[in-house]
Amino acid sequence: MTESDRQKFYTDQLRALVSEKETALGRRLTFCVVTFGCQMNARDSEKLTGILTEAGYKETDSEQADFVLYNTCTVRENANERLYGRLGHLNHYKKSHPETVIAVCGCMMQEPAEVENVRNKLTFVDIVFGTHNIFKLAELLYTHLSTGERVFDVWEDTDLIVEDLPSKRKYSFKSGVNIMFGCNNFCSYCIVPYVRGRERSRKPEDIISEIKALADDGVVEIMLLGQNVNSYGKNLGHPITFAQLMKQIEEIDGIKRIRFMTSHPKDLSDELIETMAESKKICRHLHLPLQSGSSRVLKAMNRHYTKEQYLDLVDRIKTAIPDISLTTDIIVGFPGETEEDFEETLDVVKKIRFDNAFTFIYSKRDGTAAAKLPQVPEDVIKDRFNRLLSLVQKNTSEVCGRDIGKVVEVLTEEADSRVEGMLTGRLSNNIMVHFEGDSSLISRIVKVRLLESKGFYYYGRLEE
Ligand code: SAH
Ligand code: SF4
Ligand code: F3S
Repeated sequence: MTESDRQKFYTDQLRALVSEKETALGRRLTFCVVTFGCQMNARDSEKLTGILTEAGYKETDSEQADFVLYNTCTVRENANERLYGRLGHLNHYKKSHPETVIAVCGCMMQEPAEVENVRNKLTFVDIVFGTHNIFKLAELLYTHLSTGERVFDVWEDTDLIVEDLPSKRKYSFKSGVNIMFGCNNFCSYCIVPYVRGRERSRKPEDIISEIKALADDGVVEIMLLGQNVNSYGKNLGHPITFAQLMKQIEEIDGIKRIRFMTSHPKDLSDELIETMAESKKICRHLHLPLQSGSSRVLKAMNRHYTKEQYLDLVDRIKTAIPDISLTTDIIVGFPGETEEDFEETLDVVKKIRFDNAFTFIYSKRDGTAAAKLPQVPEDVIKDRFNRLLSLVQKNTSEVCGRDIGKVVEVLTEEADSRVEGMLTGRLSNNIMVHFEGDSSLISRIVKVRLLESKGFYYYGRLEE
């Protein structure tokens, strides 16, 4: 029996149980999945939602549901605090609705100390599992419902990739596609390698057949997901590069836009730059985390590139793809960061003028190498953070309007929630545009003239 057959068996068992309960209650059983963190977690949540839907549960946005599942993030301390706040509220609700089943999964549950906290202090949590065994949800939930026992199942690491999981997409026309799991880079500040395990690439044929099925189902845009997509395929039995994979994906009929996240600068090849430059489908957007502009700090971060190498890489990218939009991540206040180091970061930001930069205050994560280093005082970090943020915002408002007056292709994504009759779409370079139009255009690629720039977004007019 394969793992996916085993899980189909448990899904059937669970469906019977759900149906029995629904008959007794005279109503449908509901579930709510709350997602924290990155695109990887968002994609995992689509799979968890797929499993619960197959088992007969009905999805709801409200946390006042029969089954509530928190898919957690632990990349920074504030992510953890937010989870505990939400759980506190739910505990209150459960007191008057004792049938409510509460589960916690995701990155935070890969940390033994957090699991112990839930086990001993948050006794109203019924089920805990980690990032490596999300495919077991039906089995874990069935076990809890049929025994009434709390279920804890966290794996330290895995080399297993379970294919053929059901999944329920959030959007009909776009989808994330995992191409690899885990991370081997151990940047010294980062907890992800500890909670997501070692790097594992999916086989190209599995990725291609998933994307073909998505295209047949009306998906026009895909986002290839991995912590470091540029090292895709290196450890497969038949090694293949990320650029080669992209070329195969490009051939798939129906797919009109290809995006990917995240690129580590140290592994971004000329082959990839060339493939992007030649491609009609790969979007004109690259998220290329800088983290710091100081070569000394970059070394301490274990990033394997210098300031000069990063600048040179960006130069090569901009020469080959002049209309590229660049975004980045920057950490302020890494242990030992001096004023001079920070000024190097400002210097890179001034030189490159990113379309946008996500700026983070360094957060100490237990177990990572940097956690043992002397920390920068909080007031110094706050001051640097504010200086960086205002530079980033100034750049964004100046740079993002560069296509004003042009007619561009836009994927219409949704009706504007604020103004009746307005639609929201996205340019190839990931910038948003608001324009007047009928909601029948949603999921279609249309031509829009860009009339006014608001920094992060445009106002435009539908052409033709
Ligand atoms: N794999 C991706 C990043 C994943 S985490 C990459 O290498 O680019 C997303 C972002 O969170 C990182 O780029 C980094 O800027 C930030 N981050 C990670 N750990 C952090 C920490 N301990 N404190 C503050 N920011 C952190
Ligand atoms: Fe974290 Fe670095 Fe891996 Fe990104 S590449 S997930 S920052 S360890
Ligand atoms: Fe957070 Fe896990 Fe993503 S720690 S950023 S959800 S990989």
